[in-house]
Amino acid sequence: MNTRRSTRFRIKPGGHITGRITVPGDKSISHRALMLGAIAEGETTIHGFLQGEDTVATARALQQMGVAIDNTGGLVRIQGVGLRGLQASDRPIDLGNSGTSVRLMTGLLAAQSFDSTLLGDDSLMRRPMLRVIEPLRRMNADITCSDHGTLPVKISGGSRLQAIDYELPVASAQLKTCLLLAGLYADGITTIVEPQTTRDHTERMLGTFSHATSRNENRITITKATKLVGTRINVPADFSSAAFFIVAATITPGADVVLENVGVNPTRNAMLKIMTLMGADIRLQKRRVQSGEPVADIHVKRSQLQGIDIPEALVPVAIDECPAILIAAACAEGVTRLRGAAELRVKESDRIQSMLEGFIATGIQAESRADGIVVEGGRFKGGDVDSQGDHRIAMAFAVAGMVSGDDIVVHDCGNVATSFPGFVALARQAGMVIDYV
Ligand code: S3P
Repeated sequence: MNTRRSTRFRIKPGGHITGRITVPGDKSISHRALMLGAIAEGETTIHGFLQGEDTVATARALQQMGVAIDNTGGLVRIQGVGLRGLQASDRPIDLGNSGTSVRLMTGLLAAQSFDSTLLGDDSLMRRPMLRVIEPLRRMNADITCSDHGTLPVKISGGSRLQAIDYELPVASAQLKTCLLLAGLYADGITTIVEPQTTRDHTERMLGTFSHATSRNENRITITKATKLVGTRINVPADFSSAAFFIVAATITPGADVVLENVGVNPTRNAMLKIMTLMGADIRLQKRRVQSGEPVADIHVKRSQLQGIDIPEALVPVAIDECPAILIAAACAEGVTRLRGAAELRVKESDRIQSMLEGFIATGIQAESRADGIVVEGGRFKGGDVDSQGDHRIAMAFAVAGMVSGDDIVVHDCGNVATSFPGFVALARQAGMVIDYV
């Protein structure tokens, strides 16, 4: 059997989360820092870069296109090649499991003078690409994909991109960023209208690279760039990784933890609001701004949770935290309803189905909907959970194991390394009784 798929976690009940812990760097910000650093002029340094498989896939792709990236000495140094300095790769670019890499890279490569082919692992090969291809075609890009609207994506270079005025059909920051990257190269002013707010790391970071975008309510505009200027980026700890410890600390008796230096960008942090509505005790301390991003220490204590109807408007701003939030829901008193979350079905796995199957396997009552799931608070009994190769499903059920009647074994956990290298060691240090089996 393939060793990645055979990576399994066994979590024993008990343990509680205490102390001060620092989770790895933010994945979204790390990807963006690499891509913008690559096409900037001069050196960019990234401090606190996420050394995860997804972000390393982005770095490798840029190296394949001639960018010098040194990722050896605890920080990342990129020698920017300028907006027109990327070179054709002599082979297809394989982006592994990383949806963010492939969506963002498609926008960047649509504007180049050379041809590119993009591929990924089995999960990435199934994920929707037409959402980025259609608007890029309207910008005059020449792109093809499979008949199912998926990878492989083939981009014919040499198209002169034209600005568009485009309303996003889905609330997706990957799609928005893809179009912003293409917009750097397009003649005219590109305008993107968001149906709901999504993470704005790209807009903030473009300002740090000296090419500001502007926003008027939900309309974002970007002009064609003459150059980006290399800079220093400090990456905060990833809120989406912290989310697992926020839930673990909320549900385990005696828990009291401080998560240090976490990004709390308001377009990312709706989980705090959702958990607070459920009765969680979460406080932000030492609020500050780093490289244009709000950062804080997050103090969490154990508390009794109540089921709620999760406000739909908060869902896009908590999309990656939904698996963790649903574990909290399973430990709450009463019923929690998640709606307006159809996007969960097209993540690294169908997260509604993966969570439902995990709940059924561990003794929690739940029912799926087309766009969400209804969870009845109860007690995890233990059992075997298939993460479906999805890092966030694996970590969510690891947290569930702490409050389960019997052990939980989570299967197919290799992809935890895409976003959270060192998860098992850090979880153990924080108080989880977890091991590989
Ligand atoms: C991301 C955007 C979100 C999120 C993903 C990272 C980004 O995806 O789920 O993990 O960095 O822009 P969508 O844009 O598909 O919602």
